[in-house]
Amino acid sequence: MSAVRYEVDGNVAVLTVDYPPVNALSAAVRTGLGEGLEKARNDDSVEAVIVLGADKTFIAGADITEFGTEKSAVKPGLRDLIETLETFPKLTVAAIHGTALGGGLELALGCHARVAVSSAKVGLPEVNLGILPGAGGTQRLPRLTGVETGIDLITSGKHIPAAKALELGVVDAVVDDVRAGGVAFAQKSLAEGTQFTAVIERNDKISGVEPKVFEEARKRIGAKARGKIAPMVIIDCIEAATKMDSVAGLKYEQEKFQELFASDQRGALMHYFFAEREARKVPDLPADTKVRPINSAAVIGSGTMGGGIAMVFANAGIQVKLVDISSEALEKGMETVRKNYEISVGRGSMPKAKMDAALKLIETTTDYADLANTDIVIEAVFEKMDLKKEIFSKLDSVMKDGAILATNTSSLDIDEIASATKRPEDVIGVHFFSPANVMKLQENIRGAKSSPSTIKTVMDIGKKLGKNVVLAGNCDGFIGNRILQYYTGEAEFLLEQGATPEQVDRVAMKFGMPMGPISMRDMSGLDVGVLVRKARWNSLPEGERMSPIVERLAERGRIGMKVGKGFYRYEGRDKFPDPETTEIIEGVAKEYGVKRREFTDEEIELRLFAPMVNEGAKELEDGTAIRASDIDVAWVNGYGFPAHKGGPMYWGERVGLKKIHEMAVEAEKRNGPRWAPSKLLGRLAKEGKGWKDA
Ligand code: CAA
Repeated sequence: MSAVRYEVDGNVAVLTVDYPPVNALSAAVRTGLGEGLEKARNDDSVEAVIVLGADKTFIAGADITEFGTEKSAVKPGLRDLIETLETFPKLTVAAIHGTALGGGLELALGCHARVAVSSAKVGLPEVNLGILPGAGGTQRLPRLTGVETGIDLITSGKHIPAAKALELGVVDAVVDDVRAGGVAFAQKSLAEGTQFTAVIERNDKISGVEPKVFEEARKRIGAKARGKIAPMVIIDCIEAATKMDSVAGLKYEQEKFQELFASDQRGALMHYFFAEREARKVPDLPADTKVRPINSAAVIGSGTMGGGIAMVFANAGIQVKLVDISSEALEKGMETVRKNYEISVGRGSMPKAKMDAALKLIETTTDYADLANTDIVIEAVFEKMDLKKEIFSKLDSVMKDGAILATNTSSLDIDEIASATKRPEDVIGVHFFSPANVMKLQENIRGAKSSPSTIKTVMDIGKKLGKNVVLAGNCDGFIGNRILQYYTGEAEFLLEQGATPEQVDRVAMKFGMPMGPISMRDMSGLDVGVLVRKARWNSLPEGERMSPIVERLAERGRIGMKVGKGFYRYEGRDKFPDPETTEIIEGVAKEYGVKRREFTDEEIELRLFAPMVNEGAKELEDGTAIRASDIDVAWVNGYGFPAHKGGPMYWGERVGLKKIHEMAVEAEKRNGPRWAPSKLLGRLAKEGKGWKDA
């Protein structure tokens, strides 16, 4: 069966791309479209052609699974098809529903006109894969939207709704039904003799653009790109559209596409794209596992975390009850929730109507009995085991059968929490990251007795909540925080050994982290750090120590940004090195007989990130993580690890597992037994293999 159906509706040929799951432009689809267009060209009864997608969506882009394979070279290529559509002797119309993304939108931009249903979205998200729209997207879209909007859309990869696309001139009409509306639009245009100018020939919006538009965009977007190269190259291509004729502009875009396609960043981002989708799958769940319906939620605790989680559910249109011990606490919690919403509305990232609707979905209560009919409850109180157990025992007595009892703990034992109930099969960890309404990671933690349906339900709900999910095993710190302690721990050892806070932070930021590990401590508060580390100090194995710099700074009242001094001294948000910090660090080094020296940036980079990979390997070994790529998903979404480096495990493989293993051997000698190389890492390094062989 062809991937493209050909039907004739009156005087209009309808080409329906039917290639699940997302009608991507595979070789089969391109061939089908090429054949369909030839049929329409030769059919005298046909005066117009519409292209649309079957099932849920228009064309979601090039077929990523065919990238770099022989199939990607099969003719006609996407650019050939676009040229055919653009120069076709009969009217060509794209009729869009679902999403028209990447090559899908580029194909639509090659048509003489575009219509979309109101729920459709369009965008050029190639930047998220480390490439650029290489089939004319950088040359055509700005010709419709203007240069500044074009830069914004293509460097961000944003999907815009049909109404906005209409306002920007990307689509010509919004219709009720994709097929009937597309056919009717084509027929009306034919009847009225409407003349459409090919997008590539429209030059009014790209003429006379001041050079400063590009200079400013480079500055603004470069500051946010954190080392990503594709956004900058996209700006170059759009500038080329304003300076060259269309043939030269398209050629320039093609050359730049090839350069980006060959880059390491493209490899990393594509790995990451599939990693996110793979992470949702749990291999050991029976195929017939039921997902429980989640139409209502409750959150215990109205602090920053609880309030944020309530927002997550309300934003997804799910009724949520926020629970706390007093109405004063609830009032305070709701005030923060309202403020957070107002900030989003003020920034323009959320329409006011959406805020109003979300606020309406959040109710407050101090009475657990009100939760009797709730489908899922997430406990988000302080990290105190006794308190959590008391709450779970109460929840056990009030919640209906089949409700999911989840804890947002970031480190406590899920099984012990579950033991406070008579239904441990319904108990699970659902760990959000602060601020919960912003951070994309939802780390679910399976207890020993969590049932398949409990696991599947919380994995599935992530998509509705707009989160990227991973499933972790139950251990101290789970997937993410377990690794974090090696990153921050090594950063502090580096300070003892002579690196400066500024250098460590600078190297981490240059690597692509949103913030350095030292500044991160100052921001979260050294007092908080001291509390979290207390238990760890007591459980250190023999022959191992942690650096006590955090404790020493805190003892002198240097507890971070909130008091104007921590590792750094602060004036507002500006930070400066402080001699007192140097004195404390040097004092610790002297006390432990640590020799101080200078470090190169390369050394620091390896020292910071290699121990994370080693600990990740231990997580694979003991089953805390299902796959290496799940660790990548956790770190990109929960801690801001740069996606263009693929995540820590992907990065480690690029550096070489042999090198990472050598680093772990040295770290064990320097830092103690917990830093010892993972056996799995040792085996893979020795056999010259990668994570897929784990
Ligand atoms: N090619 C091949 N497979 C794709 C694909 C693509 N472009 N987009 C999605 N898929 C696959 C996914 O891998 C997934 O497969 P599995 O079920 O086997 O895991 C399946 O389709 C469903 O995808 P999602 O789970 O993401 O489904 P969703 O409904 O949440 O989202 C979507 C659908 C919005 C289309 C989303 O998948 C998406 O954003 N896809 C990427 C779109 C994109 O980046 N397009 C540009 C491609 S590059 C390009 O076009 C270059 C060029 O100019 C030449």
